[in-house]
Amino acid sequence: MRFNSKQLVFSFLIIAGFFVIINSCTHAPYVLPQNMRTGDPSICFERDVLPIFISNCAKSNCHDAASGKGGYRLDSYKEIMKKGIVPGNTAASVIWESIAIKTFNVQAMPIETPPIRPADLDLIRRWIATGATDSGVTCGISPCDSNNFTYSGAIAPLMQKYCIGCHNAPTSKGGNLTGYADVQNAAVNGKLIGNIKHLPGYNAMPTTGITLSDCEIAQVTKWVAAGALNN
Ligand code: HEC
Repeated sequence: MRFNSKQLVFSFLIIAGFFVIINSCTHAPYVLPQNMRTGDPSICFERDVLPIFISNCAKSNCHDAASGKGGYRLDSYKEIMKKGIVPGNTAASVIWESIAIKTFNVQAMPIETPPIRPADLDLIRRWIATGATDSGVTCGISPCDSNNFTYSGAIAPLMQKYCIGCHNAPTSKGGNLTGYADVQNAAVNGKLIGNIKHLPGYNAMPTTGITLSDCEIAQVTKWVAAGALNN
């Protein structure tokens, strides 16, 4: 069988086309240039994004400092950025793929605990899309102060940081801790203190192997002692 010149040119183009396609698939993913990583002004990494990673991912035997399963340690900005996050490109971010897209080629996360809440996923998506910046000290998180604090300024953010990854719905094991009434209920029945202090006879919380700092425990203890007010 012989090919005429038209057929030869045509086959050449087809083959060349294949190479272009294959090659483009192996190209490095698009990364938002440094000077375009403006961040989303309403998102503060330490206040809004890091707690989601801490309570959903940085657990013992998962992605805390000691375990770092799969090479992923997800307990600080520096560690989270080491791999799995591509600034400005959610589709190429393996961490995003595993928590949100859940395609066949990555392990869907988290395992065993409920999926990350849609509102939290949206925060992570916006954080990656605007450059995955570290707002760090600029977003005005005040250091823990166990003498001068309020429920809304300290206790609710603590729940957000350490607890809500698991306690985020009435159906969650151990109950909901997203609203004041639920936290107050746990305060009044003594379990809140017993659990965070890891007292004998209580369930140590969080179950992630992390313990609240002494100052944070002091805040919760004083808040409960003062009547667990919604201030
Ligand atoms: C990784 C998941 C996880 C995290 C994070 C977590 N908990 Fe729990 N919690 C549980 C589970 C599971 C139970 C149910 C325990 C049982 O019944 O054996 C529970 C139960 C509870 C209960 C119900 C009372 C009890 O002891 O059964 C309280 C109160 C509680 N947790 C408080 C907290 C607080 C406060 C935090 C944050 C400082 C927290 N939890 C973080 C998983 C978690």
